[in-house]
Amino acid sequence: MAEPAPQAVLDSLRPRLERLATLDSPALEVEHIAILGRKSGALTALLRSLAVLPPDDRKRIGAAANELRKSFEVAFDARRAELAGPRHGGAGSGLDPTLPGRRRWVGAIHPVTRVVEEICEIFHGLGFNRAVGPEAETEWYNFQALNFPADHPAMDMHDTLYVDVGGDARPGDGKAVLLRTHTSPVQVRTMLAGPPPVRVVIPGLVYRKDTFDPSHAPVFWQIEGLAVDRGISFVDLKGTLLHFARQFFSAATRVRFRPSYFPFTEPSAEMDVSCYLCGGSGCAACKGTGWMEILGCGMVHPDVLRNCGVDPDVFTGFAFGMGPQRIAMQRYGIPDIRLLFDGDMRFLSQLAGAGA
Ligand code: PHE
Repeated sequence: MAEPAPQAVLDSLRPRLERLATLDSPALEVEHIAILGRKSGALTALLRSLAVLPPDDRKRIGAAANELRKSFEVAFDARRAELAGPRHGGAGSGLDPTLPGRRRWVGAIHPVTRVVEEICEIFHGLGFNRAVGPEAETEWYNFQALNFPADHPAMDMHDTLYVDVGGDARPGDGKAVLLRTHTSPVQVRTMLAGPPPVRVVIPGLVYRKDTFDPSHAPVFWQIEGLAVDRGISFVDLKGTLLHFARQFFSAATRVRFRPSYFPFTEPSAEMDVSCYLCGGSGCAACKGTGWMEILGCGMVHPDVLRNCGVDPDVFTGFAFGMGPQRIAMQRYGIPDIRLLFDGDMRFLSQLAGAGA
């Protein structure tokens, strides 16, 4: 079979140059071999056959063939680069380049953890170190050392989750093991661990025999605070907690102290902060009162100091305890405490970027 005339070969190759831009990767490589392949490429063969052409044809066809080869090289390179590009889904590749990309999952700090960290940081700035204690605690640390009278209702088994660890310890004898109902036993552990001055914040989980409802959970967070030193007075308590409230909520926050009762503090108080949403004029979040209850506090009872080997004639102290989950709920407008336990990404992702 006679070879096709060189001019006819050139004419048949030219339209294929334009079609390169429509080829996917495998088709492009097949075409590359068919045109520029070293052994059987149509253009390669043509260039090789130039030697046998009459001199005039050789010059004319040779120039045109070389130019076409360069054009093909440029076009192959360009198409390859395009197919390798990040946004490309070539025709026939099965990709739809118009689909939105897959977002990478980015983790975030849980809102309660964030509040716990922020609160501890504020107290850290005032010289309070962080302390921790066991969640399974003996009754003595949880109740007796803290001056709870023997008939205090919190010691009733309805409120407290006792742990059966065998042996003959019984509820009420001080040795029974329970899941701590508050972080206050770590006050006792801290004072027994070393002499004053003491300044600690104690974050941790506590347990009560409550069922889950929008405002209760059988396990929840507390942050305890304790300062014991010579000459500590109620003024130090108020100044410290006012500073905390202004740092945590806003510089305009006001606080008020209402008399209260805890067995381990005397005098005792509840601290409210002016509602940071309405500024104190009354809104749904503060139930129209303008105030939000934040924590319990008081001067450490002399009997507690004594139980911990601290001389109440030399040292005084203050203590406070707050619920960071309730504080997080107030801050972020969360209506149901159970949302903080669910791990539901539809809820949590709404708070992932939320700052103070
Ligand atoms: N332990 C108390 C509670 O759980 C809070 C508290 C801590 C009150 C320290 C006064 C001082 O309610």
